[in-house]
Amino acid sequence: MAANIVIGTQWGDEGKGKAIDLLASRADIVVRSQGGNNAGHTVVADGETYKLHLIPSGILHKGTLCLIGAGVVIDPKDLLSEMDSLSERGVTFDNLKIDPRAHVTMPWHITLDGLSEEFRGSKDIGTTHRGIGPAYMDKYERSGIRFYDLVHPEVFREKARSAGELKNAIITKVFGGKPVDLDAVIEEYVGYGKRLAAYIGDVSVLTYEAVKAGKEILFEGAQATLLDIDYGTYPYVTSSHPVSAGVCIGSGVGPKVIDNIYGVAKAYTTRVGKGPFPTELNDDIGKFIQDKGGEFGATTGRPRRTGWFDAVIVRHAVRVNGLSSLMINKLDILKGLDTLKVCVAYKKPDGTVIKDFPPVLEELEGCKPVYEEFPGFTENISSCRRFEELPEVCQKYITRLEELCECPVGMLGVGQDREQIIER
Ligand code: GDP
Ligand code: IMO
Ligand code: MG
Repeated sequence: MAANIVIGTQWGDEGKGKAIDLLASRADIVVRSQGGNNAGHTVVADGETYKLHLIPSGILHKGTLCLIGAGVVIDPKDLLSEMDSLSERGVTFDNLKIDPRAHVTMPWHITLDGLSEEFRGSKDIGTTHRGIGPAYMDKYERSGIRFYDLVHPEVFREKARSAGELKNAIITKVFGGKPVDLDAVIEEYVGYGKRLAAYIGDVSVLTYEAVKAGKEILFEGAQATLLDIDYGTYPYVTSSHPVSAGVCIGSGVGPKVIDNIYGVAKAYTTRVGKGPFPTELNDDIGKFIQDKGGEFGATTGRPRRTGWFDAVIVRHAVRVNGLSSLMINKLDILKGLDTLKVCVAYKKPDGTVIKDFPPVLEELEGCKPVYEEFPGFTENISSCRRFEELPEVCQKYITRLEELCECPVGMLGVGQDREQIIER
């Protein structure tokens, strides 16, 4: 039995939900390690579409233990409404456990997320407005409220009041915003804590026990490498570590436990929110990909920016995460384009060609993509289940991506449905 990680290699929304759903069907445990309800993971199963935000995608497989680790930030209100709407569809939560160390997103985090974005004006990050950055700020400032506190009313009331008073001072005196009604919020959240108390469990211990028992474990990544706080396009990133190393910290296991690290990419690139995007297409082809790929955020509904596959960023992800193999999704969306392009390197303003993703935005600025071109395809590939069944041009495209990214492609997505996957 193995412990595997699924990670995003681009700017998110690569189809991790779909990869996780497939691998979760073979796993005993699925663990979320970082991020929060900024994630939106889509699973299409038997014609039904599920969009999961905080709940691990493994929940759709009855009997799979689903764990939310210490590195996650939890908005209890949103978590409960996600659980309620999944319950209505027959999903059960007997197998859900949440680490007492996980931090809680409070209403003032959401307010401050909005106010900070407004204050940045045209230099805003384009966050999901879910309070993610402010919740992680408090965690690292050592003033956060944790899941343990939430489910212990006396501890929670005291911590929430002192945190809330300070936040209200910042909201009103720094930003001139409307204060949070602390009395109402505290009692509302005590209620959420009561409902969630049954789910508390030490994820580090549960995962370790599973490792010792030889169980199959899947670590479900959220966000993606280029959104990592250190290895992404800072400051246009999220506030956690969505790279493979973040999994160990966020779930409380040592790196020796991990067997395989799967990186998920799209056959092209998308990005929601602001920040650099070297292969972005602001033309008819970009619009074609956006429309045909249904490129609208699963969490915020915002249109996703679209562009060609960028092998420079995916190779960066291969290195940073130590990827074992890649899953390339949405190849079917490229059907009908005359020519496909792949960025193989960047040309700097002084003419130098670079192959490694620049570490800072100042060095990325002015870089232009160097493209390699491929003939397009017109065949419907959604019913292909073996690599050899794909049109030759698709096979060549994927084989070249493997060379450029220096990583084998183990899985391919050829449609939205659970079944529309080629495994090699
Ligand atoms: P995640 O955040 O990485 O889990 O990805 P999202 O769920 O936010 O976005 C991926 C979108 O692409 C979802 O609508 C998926 O249903 C869809 N999708 C995933 N793989 C494929 C594929 O191979 N083909 C097509 N057409 N759609 C796919
Ligand atoms: P999944 O797991 C795509 C982006 C936001 C914004 C930046 C910071 O579905 O791939 P935040 O709210 O985290 O402070 O926003 O990160 N972002 C995502 N983009 N997919 C996601 O998750 C994302 N989670 C955050 O759009 O640019
Ligand atoms: Mg998503």
